[in-house]
Amino acid sequence: MKILFFGDIYSKSGRDVIKKYLPILKEKYAVDLVIANGENSAHGKGMTKKIYDELMGMGVQAFTMGNHFLKNSDILKWLDSVNNIARPLNIDGVVEGKGSVVIDTVKGKVRITNLLGRVFIREFECLNPFSCLEDIVDECEEKVHIVDFHAEANGEKKSLAYYFDGRVSAVLGTHTHVQTADNRVLPKGTAYISDVGFCGAYESVLGIEINDAIAFSKDYDFKKHTPAENEGEVCAVILDIDEEDGKSKSIERIHIIPN
Ligand SMILES: [Fe+2]
Ligand SMILES: [Fe+2]
Repeated sequence: MKILFFGDIYSKSGRDVIKKYLPILKEKYAVDLVIANGENSAHGKGMTKKIYDELMGMGVQAFTMGNHFLKNSDILKWLDSVNNIARPLNIDGVVEGKGSVVIDTVKGKVRITNLLGRVFIREFECLNPFSCLEDIVDECEEKVHIVDFHAEANGEKKSLAYYFDGRVSAVLGTHTHVQTADNRVLPKGTAYISDVGFCGAYESVLGIEINDAIAFSKDYDFKKHTPAENEGEVCAVILDIDEEDGKSKSIERIHIIPN
């Protein structure tokens, strides 16, 4: 089974680049399932129903989220009416949605779980991601299980990946918006990358207008936080998974930048 996973889609530039490249990548790699992190898809903050529909129309079949998923409260109105969005599992106080969902594909069921890290994540008081995932892994029947670990610290992400090596198909880091070059399959068959990266404006600082980001870093000026809109980059991975036992055979990095 081939799964295409896009890192955080950021605002319109991110959506535009998905529209442009998703069909090309899907055909090139004979993809069975397309997953994307959608936490920044609506103007950098969360996801609206309009944008969910737009991305589904482009061919994204399932979504993960992250620390920004409640930055636009629109999602709380419709999250329970869809079954293909995994929002962070290990948070308290949110009743809407699920942290782990199951998607049907032509090659069988795929479980998708979204976790938040506990290092430098300020939006939520996070429960222990190890024990929350352990509960799911112990109970679930699906062989193929993709975990999006939305976290800042690579050490935290890789520790979780080794802890669950052989028990989930992939642990894919998201959140930093910068793709790392450490993609590999761990000894017991779990595919890993510290961060898939993001899909959004190439001339930006993690998707944000350059001058706004400079003001933030240089002068602690938080006033503007505008999404940059220009030709985008695509960061994604292709997973090749044995659907019989759920082990990964390979994880390939994709990074497309404007010409
Ligand atoms: Fe993000
Ligand atoms: Fe994030």
